Amino acid sequence: MKEKLELLKQNATSDINNVSDEQSLLRLKSTYLGKDSQIMQVMKSMKDLTIEEKKEIGKLANEVKSFIENLVKEKMNEISSKKENKRIFDNTLPVGDEIGSLSPITIVANEVAEVLKKMGFMIVSGPEMEKEYYNFEALNIPKNHPARDMQDTYWTNLGDVLRTHTSPVQARSMETYGAPIRMAAPGRCFRNEDIDACHENTFFQIEGMVIDKEVSISNLIYVMKNILKEIYKKDIEVRLRPGFFPFVEPGFELDIKCLICGGKGCPTCKNSGWLELCPCGMIHPEVLRMGNINPDEYSGFAFGIGLTRMAMMKYKINDIRMLNSGEIRHLKQFKVK
Ligand code: DAH
Repeated sequence: MKEKLELLKQNATSDINNVSDEQSLLRLKSTYLGKDSQIMQVMKSMKDLTIEEKKEIGKLANEVKSFIENLVKEKMNEISSKKENKRIFDNTLPVGDEIGSLSPITIVANEVAEVLKKMGFMIVSGPEMEKEYYNFEALNIPKNHPARDMQDTYWTNLGDVLRTHTSPVQARSMETYGAPIRMAAPGRCFRNEDIDACHENTFFQIEGMVIDKEVSISNLIYVMKNILKEIYKKDIEVRLRPGFFPFVEPGFELDIKCLICGGKGCPTCKNSGWLELCPCGMIHPEVLRMGNINPDEYSGFAFGIGLTRMAMMKYKINDIRMLNSGEIRHLKQFKVK
């Protein structure tokens, strides 16, 4: 009986090693381990053996059985991993004929970036996980400054932040490129907000910055009006109100004449005739200095456009949560033509 078991082991090994598909392997499994398999017959016939024989043969039969079970398992893994690989590399499979779509935020970001590129701006990016220094200090917001409270910040255990705005890219660009410079940086920002139809903890901005000799507020207004003209395809009236941001002096809120009512007053502009579009200002001399740029020689302006808000205005989206939901039925509406 010992020889029978040895032979069985050998036959099973060579048979199992020789198959390459799941069906044949399952068939072998039933031949070698099934109810009517030889190993089961050996086990059934053990009752006729002496106690000594039972011990010896029983042990051997169990060993052979689990040896074959293992072989089957390994072979099954091998076959299924080959199948997986085949799926990844099979470039003969038909390709879906559906073209994907861009998120409305990407669409407006690209539009603004295109306009800025025409005006000589370079498009750069900065890290989403940012050093505290670039997110705050380099922008003239020192530790314990109350302006930090305006931006509910996510901190990492290591003391870095998820950037609360795209403005840190201003400071990074000053260090990397020096002056003169025209740059824009679109990207994702984060604040610890409770989420509802108007608030998100993840949103998008595009930062713009110009530094050169004798840059003035009129240059800022010209650039802003030009962006708006290209995007809305008509001249848009703007106004500046004072606004406080530690990294600009003077700082402004730039409003546009309400696109819905043309300035007469309506629910969208809360009857004021104006819509708040973007904060901006002349770069604070201290910020230039920290970026290794001499404020006696150079001046500059900066602005931060809320891309999330812009996309909502453009596509009349009334719930901000739609933008990050990944909901395919929403995204499909922005199909590339
Ligand atoms: N980073 C500011 C914020 O998110 C917005 C801002 C204000 C950007 C003034 C600017 C600027 O470039 O000049 O609250």
